[in-house]
Amino acid sequence: MHVLIVGGRGQLGRALQQAFEIRPDIRLTLWNRPEHDIISPQITGEVAQLAPDVVINAAAWTNVDGAETDPDGAYAANMLGPKYLAEGCAACHTALVQVSTNEVFSGEPGRCYREYDQPSARSVYARSKLAGERAARHLLDRLYIVRVAWLFGPGGDNFPAKIVRAADRHGALRVVNDEFGNPTYAPDVAAALVALVDSGRYGIYHLVNEGYTSRYDLACHVLACAGRGHVPVTPIPAREWPRPATPPLHAVLVNQAAAALGITLRPWQEAVEDYCRREFAREEMSGER
Ligand SMILES: NC(=O)c1ccc[n+]([C@@H]2O[C@H](COP(=O)([O-])OP(=O)(O)OC[C@H]3O[C@@H](n4cnc5c(N)ncnc54)[C@H](OP(=O)(O)O)[C@@H]3O)[C@@H](O)[C@H]2O)c1
Repeated sequence: MHVLIVGGRGQLGRALQQAFEIRPDIRLTLWNRPEHDIISPQITGEVAQLAPDVVINAAAWTNVDGAETDPDGAYAANMLGPKYLAEGCAACHTALVQVSTNEVFSGEPGRCYREYDQPSARSVYARSKLAGERAARHLLDRLYIVRVAWLFGPGGDNFPAKIVRAADRHGALRVVNDEFGNPTYAPDVAAALVALVDSGRYGIYHLVNEGYTSRYDLACHVLACAGRGHVPVTPIPAREWPRPATPPLHAVLVNQAAAALGITLRPWQEAVEDYCRREFAREEMSGER
């Protein structure tokens, strides 16, 4: 099977590369910008010419707050990009994996969202990602829409990395305790995606680590696992941490569809422990921080 990963340098792209390259039966192609830019209409012809068996679109505009001031930029990457890729896939009968987000849901407090629930995106970023899902669905039957949430992976500038950096810089933190989500480890998503692509079962999937938590509890767990459990953390409501984009407070995903195929991800706490061991154990031993 020939797999093309677009956006191979991102957190998920790197994890996907590692997950696929250990498979001897997979021929892997990685595309990055500027050589392969998903906002360029030419990418359609490039995909059609390569004609892989599966395209995984891990490229996206992921700056949620920045999307509020540059909606055209966000829509270009998150809506036109998947549209151009889907057009290329349609031309060569190739399957597409379009990666999306928990933020396509409004996040009513107390609710958890399954694959069949109706999205209702609020922020510019969320609306652009939902538009990307819809553009791909309009063009392709052989499509996996894979929603992930609160993604973190080795080397990424993600929430756990920012928490550790802020703890080292400030010695004390204030973290929102009324925003909930599923912390999700990029290597775990990548492994699940390999299994999903193997299954050939197209559709909408929520690939998240099991369980959910608040930003505050996630921060405390990260600090404990990263050897910074002594750093004091004060819980605050989201209204005391204003952001340009208002994130959904409870866009918690449930993995029902992939679980029915036997594809599940381990509890988020174990994934955080694994991540912290990989990211912070070396500095602990060498006294780097
Ligand atoms: N991060 C999260 O918390 C989160 C949560 C929910 C869903 N998601 C979704 O998960 C997916 C992967 O996210 P991630 O965290 O791995 O993202 P990431 O680390 O920010 O990586 C995004 C990648 O997309 C590439 N890219 C951006 N615009 C491009 C363009 N026009 N053409 C080609 N490549 C382009 C970037 O290239 P450069 O390396 O050149 O910048 C980067 O390699 C995205 O679809 C995202 O929306 C992420």
